[in-house]
Amino acid sequence: MNTRLEGKRALVTGGNSGIGAAIALGLADAGAKVAINYASHPEAADELVQTIKQKHGEAISIHADVSEPNAVGELFRQLDVAMGGIDILINNAGIDGASALGWEADIAAWRKVIEVNLFGAFYCAREALKRMVPQRSGVVLSTTSVHEEIAWSGYSAYTASKAAVSMLTKTLAQEAAPHGVRVLAVGPGAIKTPINRAVWSDPKSLQDLLEKIPLHRIGAPEEIAQMVVVLVSDVASYVTGRTIFVDGGMTDYPAFAHGG
Ligand code: BGC
Repeated sequence: MNTRLEGKRALVTGGNSGIGAAIALGLADAGAKVAINYASHPEAADELVQTIKQKHGEAISIHADVSEPNAVGELFRQLDVAMGGIDILINNAGIDGASALGWEADIAAWRKVIEVNLFGAFYCAREALKRMVPQRSGVVLSTTSVHEEIAWSGYSAYTASKAAVSMLTKTLAQEAAPHGVRVLAVGPGAIKTPINRAVWSDPKSLQDLLEKIPLHRIGAPEEIAQMVVVLVSDVASYVTGRTIFVDGGMTDYPAFAHGG
């Protein structure tokens, strides 16, 4: 089994925090050259670049708001100059937005979630596939969520965006497969990152969350990263068009462990 990624050029969007940062480190540890994209907090991106370089890896950081198509074009131009192209795209940048019931939601805030999570993933996949299809190799992997399947009150934009990225993944996979390019997704459950700090740092909310997870613990970002490394490597050469959930069983309907 070989999960080494030597010689591969990877881009991780939203790669300076949470799951994205763990994926960037995981890809670099596996031997890939990594471009860490960020929209805010350049210092976190630079710190990660230094960490990778200290371990004798290759990394750069590139600023771009992926919800802006022109910025995504510029991001890929910079990537072409720095790395000469791309072999692995990790579409990871995402936001969940403020909690609001659908009929109370602010339209601009709702739209922003879709623009980052769905449009951003599409703009980046589009640029990546333009390069991967002619070279007849490459992998596009998007980070979705258990909430591509599980409804979540207060987060209609987030759930809709993740379900949409799931179908985008399946369709792009169908289009790219004849060209030797794989397109797939990883669906994290509750992973300990800044996005859900308010939940895991409050004992009552944490208890409520743990009841929704059969393995009864929150996941670590590294548990997503290690699966991503496997999925983008040749070990997963026959896997495309699917979301692989890494969720401690959250999508296994734990409420049905009793009754029914
Ligand atoms: C969200 C987290 C949440 C988890 C499980 C993720 O997609 O970003 O905030 O804890 O789903 O509900």
